[in-house]
Amino acid sequence: MRFDRLIRVRRPIRRRAHRAATILVAVSVLGCIEATDAETPVPSAATFVDLPEPRHGGDVAVEQALAMRRSIRQYADTPLSLAGLAQLAWSAQGITDSAGHRTSPSAGALYPLELYVVAGEVLGLEAGIYRYVPAGHRLVRHTDGDARGAVARAALQQSWIADAPAILVLAGVTERTAGKYGNRAPRFVHIEVGHAAQNVYLQAEALGLGTCIVGGFDNVQLKRVLALREAEAPLAILPVGTPR
Ligand SMILES: Cc1cc2nc3c(=O)[nH]c(=O)nc-3n(C[C@H](O)[C@H](O)[C@H](O)COP(=O)(O)O)c2cc1C
Repeated sequence: MRFDRLIRVRRPIRRRAHRAATILVAVSVLGCIEATDAETPVPSAATFVDLPEPRHGGDVAVEQALAMRRSIRQYADTPLSLAGLAQLAWSAQGITDSAGHRTSPSAGALYPLELYVVAGEVLGLEAGIYRYVPAGHRLVRHTDGDARGAVARAALQQSWIADAPAILVLAGVTERTAGKYGNRAPRFVHIEVGHAAQNVYLQAEALGLGTCIVGGFDNVQLKRVLALREAEAPLAILPVGTPR
């Protein structure tokens, strides 16, 4: 069945789900339960970090990046620039047109992924966990302190992860997609993580940086380390740094 026809047949379900979401949000405002498919909220007293504008040109052709890409697990003792971090975040989930479409495709343009940055040694950025906010291309501060060691421990003791100056973590809010696509949502969200992660691999290669996707981690432990909301599931870890 064609994708656009599939969208049409799901509409009544979407309307029902939307009504359910509205009720959930209303209940959440009353403080009883948490909304699951709403946008991840930004606290009113949040600290934002504006990121350098992403570049839309470079010296490395996409074919070169594809040919050279390798998973990198050893990093030089070199901090990551804020511009480098900004470019990587943009490659994963950056907005690229006035309609809000992003660098990575998304089923129904519902964008269920959240990108977290575990910053350790990023120039001009205090150590801490941040969430990338695509609208406005900025970070919102999430928690304080260097959490790289805790992420490495949650990743089944893969200690090399803590050597990266920054660690990206992709989390998914499946309910955001389930409102329209029902039980296909988990598949769609997993596909989307693959897209975003490959973008990070290719962007890292083009910047002379390296990454390695990590799927080996304890869900519960990583979720706790990142202080994720109930509706957010950690799906991939991508340490980034200069290859050693
Ligand atoms: C879904 C997935 C999970 C992975 N998890 C880990 C991991 O937990 N630790 C790790 O060191 N590498 C992990 N990798 C990286 C693979 O080991 C790597 O892609 C593979 O060895 C091929 O090497 P290449 O990426 O350099 O071509 C993972 C890769 C994928 C696609």
